[in-house]
Amino acid sequence: MNNRVKLPIGIFDSGLGGLTVYKQVRKILPNENIVYFGDTARVPYGSKSKNTIIDFSTQITKFLNEIPVKAIVVACNTASSYALEILKSIVTIPIIGVVEPGVNAANKQNKKNKVGVIGTTGTIKSNSYKNTFKKINPNVTVFSNDCPLFVPLVEEGWMNHSVTYQIAEEYLKGLIETDIDSLILGCTHYPLLEDVIRKILPDSIQIINSSTEVAREIKRVLENNNLLNISNNENVTTKFFVTDYPQKFISISKNILGHSLENVELITTEYLDKFSEK
Ligand code: DGL
Repeated sequence: MNNRVKLPIGIFDSGLGGLTVYKQVRKILPNENIVYFGDTARVPYGSKSKNTIIDFSTQITKFLNEIPVKAIVVACNTASSYALEILKSIVTIPIIGVVEPGVNAANKQNKKNKVGVIGTTGTIKSNSYKNTFKKINPNVTVFSNDCPLFVPLVEEGWMNHSVTYQIAEEYLKGLIETDIDSLILGCTHYPLLEDVIRKILPDSIQIINSSTEVAREIKRVLENNNLLNISNNENVTTKFFVTDYPQKFISISKNILGHSLENVELITTEYLDKFSEK
């Protein structure tokens, strides 16, 4: 057996939104050990520059690689959009982003060649979804909109608030007019707003939540690299690292995961700085 099989999978995000991806990975790969990294001191990534996101993502990738982990999932759409290719050149282990799995999932549903994408300002500005569609199905026209208020609303726990509903109506109305047949939730936090978004969208528009597709993709990648842990591991471990307020992470994550986390450790951004490329 490949002696790296038992190593954990690393999953990182700017904060706790990536737990939506973690949840699916845990479900589809119950035998895998997992290390989750949430950069809670420096969230949000969505409003920061490309260079800053590349720097933060590089630090975290090197930190995870040093643990070591056997593969890394970049659960954050903004980091996947700005930094994925660079991260792949930094380490030799497989690195999986969330943009391509989301595009593949939408492409399977696609009938009218018109797909909507919502995400952070960084993700939308990067054109990552448009560029990935150009590779996978150039016939698709992508209509996109950034929704910068969604992340703070989720962080505030206002998933079903009337204010959230009004803001979502405002963000989505232009997209609805374009006659799209599916809408990709291109941000870790947006699956947590799916109920609100569903109420606003006409039934003809499918919502694409890429986290299941991401989890399937990581399974495929592990299989292809002989890294899948198939032993019925009774001592599966999950470890969480955050860069600020572990207690806050523990209490908010309970709403997302439905249970309390125990294994949460603080890593300072000063410590991460030593992994910078500069
Ligand atoms: N994780 C980010 C993303 O998916 C959303 C939160 C943030 O802006 O950091 O783009």
